[in-house]
Amino acid sequence: AYLAQAQTPPMGWNSWNKFGCNVSEKLIMDMADKMVKTGMKNAGYQYVVIDDCWQVERDSLGFIQADPDRFPHGMKYLADYIHSKGLKFGLYSCAGSYTCQGRPGSRGHQFQDALMYAKWGVDFLKYDWCSDEGQNAQAAYATMSDAIKESGRPMILSICEWGEHEPWKWGKGIGHLWRVTADIRDCYQCLFDWGGVGVLNVIDKMADLYPYAGPGHWNDAEMLEVGNGGMTKDEYITHFSMWCMLAAPLMAGNDLTKMDKDTHEILTNKEVIAVDQDPMGEQGRRFMDMGEKEIWAKPLSNGELAVCFLNRTDFPWKLDYNWKAQTIYFANEVNIHANEYVIRDLWKHKDIGTTAQNTKATIPAHSVLMVRLSKKAK
Ligand code: DGJ
Repeated sequence: AYLAQAQTPPMGWNSWNKFGCNVSEKLIMDMADKMVKTGMKNAGYQYVVIDDCWQVERDSLGFIQADPDRFPHGMKYLADYIHSKGLKFGLYSCAGSYTCQGRPGSRGHQFQDALMYAKWGVDFLKYDWCSDEGQNAQAAYATMSDAIKESGRPMILSICEWGEHEPWKWGKGIGHLWRVTADIRDCYQCLFDWGGVGVLNVIDKMADLYPYAGPGHWNDAEMLEVGNGGMTKDEYITHFSMWCMLAAPLMAGNDLTKMDKDTHEILTNKEVIAVDQDPMGEQGRRFMDMGEKEIWAKPLSNGELAVCFLNRTDFPWKLDYNWKAQTIYFANEVNIHANEYVIRDLWKHKDIGTTAQNTKATIPAHSVLMVRLSKKAK
């Protein structure tokens, strides 16, 4: 039953990337409203997750308290409000005694906390790894996982130990998704001393991890930065396209009350989201790497295939692609030699030919051509 949750990568919104510790009841209610009004909910986004800093202390019996100034009506009230919009509610805690922002963590209180979350109506828990105090990561996450299972309320468990202890090797059945890097930054390619990463850095880390993903257990490429202002439109298109190729959870991290047209277009592109949410749940693979020009493929259900040409260079890529000359062959699912496929451009929303002809396109610097191949009716 536990694994039956998150059959496709979870989609939602999380407060951290844009708002950090500046969270409040009003902010979260505004975001829930906007999830519905902007069409995000309709595009599949579901979870509204409050990250760090909602909590200040425990009461005399050890029960965790929401910050009474920032959340005057408490968490049950907020959960009810979010549920009334047809959305789901997520909270954050940490496996250590303190969260990364110095708030009370769950160590020693795991079962008590899970019970409290269940009473409030929490549907998703992001569980961090600061002040880990030498604990064994797998054991620490298994304890919270057991606590959730015992609470009686289904919750998604998001393992956030930054890939330090290779959670892809033990996370299945404990959590439903696990981060594979330190925190994302709103940049295309960047590496910080403390481990922070940009879009391409995450993609490179994710590349080898495809065998570990599937329904109920996902490699988490980190939350989205689309709309936060640090990248160009093409870079955000790459960010979003590749997260979908990677079957990554899609947690928007922008201010939904101030979405511009481009941000909205990217985050609600249903054809691209359908690749992420494909029921087969296969993570895409980099099958060709021609020095900063890469071709990725993701097998989809019904014998279809998503292909993403990723131009990491600073110059346009003049593509002239002969499908027949390439070996794209995924376990009988897609056979470019035996079948002819219709090619659909998922950003232009139109068919651009078939695999019988070469595909010609100019892919801007730092952008992609993302297509879907469907068998042509005979
Ligand atoms: C570290 C995590 O990786 C971030 O996503 C965020 O949850 C912060 N901690 C919050 O303190």
